[in-house]
Amino acid sequence: MEKRLKRIEEDALNEIESARTGEELEAVRIKYMGRKGLFTDLLKSMKDLPEKERPAIGAKANEIKGKLAGLIEAKLKSLGKKGSAQEASIDVTMPGVEITRLGHKHPITQVINRVNEIFIGLGFKVKEGPEIENEYYNFEALNIPLEHPSRDVFDTFYIQDDILLRSQTSTVQIRVMEKEKPPLQVISSGRVYRPDAVDASHSFMFHQVEGFMVDKNIKFSDLKGTLSLFARQMFGKDTKIRFRPHFFPFTEPSAEVDVSCIMCAGKGCRVCRYKGWLEILGAGMINPKVFEAVGYNPEKWTGYAFGMGIERIAMLKYGINDIRLFFENDLRFLRQF
Ligand code: PHE
Repeated sequence: MEKRLKRIEEDALNEIESARTGEELEAVRIKYMGRKGLFTDLLKSMKDLPEKERPAIGAKANEIKGKLAGLIEAKLKSLGKKGSAQEASIDVTMPGVEITRLGHKHPITQVINRVNEIFIGLGFKVKEGPEIENEYYNFEALNIPLEHPSRDVFDTFYIQDDILLRSQTSTVQIRVMEKEKPPLQVISSGRVYRPDAVDASHSFMFHQVEGFMVDKNIKFSDLKGTLSLFARQMFGKDTKIRFRPHFFPFTEPSAEVDVSCIMCAGKGCRVCRYKGWLEILGAGMINPKVFEAVGYNPEKWTGYAFGMGIERIAMLKYGINDIRLFFENDLRFLRQF
């Protein structure tokens, strides 16, 4: 009996030694330690032994079994490591695949980020508002009553009776002021929608950045100083700005703001149509009616607001002459920025 045990052990050790794959090892395990394996046979035939020899042989058999199981396990692990590399035939010394074309941010996103960066530097906080709005936020609270002709200016896509796609980011003024108390310095960008026929300078969807500040004793000069600093940081340190009187229902007084032409530095060229100036935004002092709508005391609080089209800024900055290029996903265009 003892001899038989010794032989089984030697055979098993040899077979484990020469096994080359996980499957071969598993076969060895089943052959010796499986339910119908050689160890089971051996233990069964122990009943033929004299009773007092049984415990010693049994213990010895179990010891050998345990040792073999440990060896199989260890070999399986080392095969696992080598095995997978061999099977997939990976040459770990081969040089990697060079990434030659990394993606990058869309030019519109780049401009939005730059605008945010400039205003964050002035203490503004970035906020967001919904693109799907109702008439109250897009018009009424902004002092654009029903039947008011200026509703035509902000011509609007309606989804249902009172649900629409916002036609301006000025909606965010109302949404933020309703929730928060002054003082406020907020910048907010996003998509706006207008049912314009698409051409080189119009799109039914484009992006705006809205900015506003509310505090005590805010003056028109604060607006001027802020926007002139913005223009210099955005377009270069010699950029000048000018204000032309204008009308917006939600600001009073209101202005359109131009920057000196960034192509010709104001001398006059095709881009500025020989005027030397480029219109970039609308602005003004927040109308007391807007403060009333959000429950701020207009005797106590003052503020300014401005809004600009991002595509226009991007077109000027990069010398792009067709707004449609931003939305066609033509990589030959996008890769240039
Ligand atoms: N909302 C205006 C527009 O879309 C821009 C604007 C914003 C003007 C804030 C004044 C103040 O044309």
